[in-house]
Amino acid sequence: MSVRKITPGNHLRGELTVPGDKSISHRAVMLGSIAQGTTEITNFLTGADCLSTIRCFRQMGVSIEERPDCILVHGRGLRGLTAPDGTMNTGNSGTTTRLMSGILAGQRFSSLLSGDASLNSRPMKRIMDPLGQMGARIISVNGNGCAPLSIQPGDLHGIAYTSPVASAQVKSAVLLAGLYADGETSVTEPVLSRNHTELMLQNFGAYVMTALHPGGSATAYVEPCQELYGQQVFVPGDISSAAYFIAAALLTPDSELLIKNVGTNFTRAGFLKVCEAMGADITLVNKTIEGGEPRADILARSSALKGTVIEGELIPTLIDELPILAVMAALAEGTTVIRDAAELKVKETNRIDTVTAGLATMGAHVTPTEDGMIIEGGSCLTGARIQSHLDHRIAMAFAVAGLAAHGETFIEDSQCVDVSYPEFFQTLDQLA
Ligand code: S3P
Repeated sequence: MSVRKITPGNHLRGELTVPGDKSISHRAVMLGSIAQGTTEITNFLTGADCLSTIRCFRQMGVSIEERPDCILVHGRGLRGLTAPDGTMNTGNSGTTTRLMSGILAGQRFSSLLSGDASLNSRPMKRIMDPLGQMGARIISVNGNGCAPLSIQPGDLHGIAYTSPVASAQVKSAVLLAGLYADGETSVTEPVLSRNHTELMLQNFGAYVMTALHPGGSATAYVEPCQELYGQQVFVPGDISSAAYFIAAALLTPDSELLIKNVGTNFTRAGFLKVCEAMGADITLVNKTIEGGEPRADILARSSALKGTVIEGELIPTLIDELPILAVMAALAEGTTVIRDAAELKVKETNRIDTVTAGLATMGAHVTPTEDGMIIEGGSCLTGARIQSHLDHRIAMAFAVAGLAAHGETFIEDSQCVDVSYPEFFQTLDQLA
């Protein structure tokens, strides 16, 4: 298994682009597959998770061409998928598993989904319950509420579902099933989560609406649909990937990076808000919007950061950036409190555990809590051997920590970055 050595001390200067957004790439293949006509996806993320989505839809008869400059999805229409020849392997990808379950609930064939050890230990009851209420029968094969999942479709009914968690994967699974239902479907979540499914469904011709309620909760509605229509999708750079390089520029002296074409959808851009609260020198330039998805070039310069509180409505807008924010907090002046983030426990690893363990190994003062962590800033981090536990975001967050540490850092099983950012270490080597 691969180990990456990170040597501190260099400044980072120059321009870069980060790969396409993972969430949007998944959705473009899924909607393209169930649309009529061809969907052309530019700047698609060819990370392992999105390739899992492509593999699964190919198993259901969809022809998907991987060209050098784009992906072409030759859609089969809303009711044109065919029964897969065997189990569909969703790899490490929660998005593939949960969103696809919503689509599979509306088909006329049964299917079986299974992933790797991490994926097969993540909670699936959160989608089994609402899809079950709609009329699908989803069985956790091992009876533990996790994948492998056996999906037996049924005649789906529209429901008004109130989700206990703010999860775009849950919301999206129910909305996608709602396309096949006999009446309107709605999902209310306690706090608005990323809205890429709603935006893209609208572009593909579905009738979708969102209501934001006082107090921060939100309801998304979808009407049953006859057909979706293939589109051209430009995928903006992934802000979750850009976050590592923004942090690297902020944390290393005499650095200045311009990261081009980064998605800045407000349901994803909490990282930028927290950077601002921490005193970061960040500027957004060349702002534009395409397919309802805003993007900009982000200029980040070395900054003296200070501690902050990260909580409440912000959490779903930066949930995947909390590992790198924790690293930034350890190197900031003062205390940072992360709360309302119990969802961290059910990511690719339990990220409250893996972040606190990694930071403690590097000499930071961090206390895990039930729904987050408390980080005493101002530590000098010491290079160390870091277990990624095969979690891509842990590997990348601690690679950045290594840049700002004293001494060398080694990231174990560093190849796991392939899940969302295959070129991460090459780009880091070029810049540092
Ligand atoms: C995602 C939603 C989030 C996020 C994940 C991608 C999506 O998960 O952590 O990396 O594409 O919808 P939850 O819905 O579980 O919060």
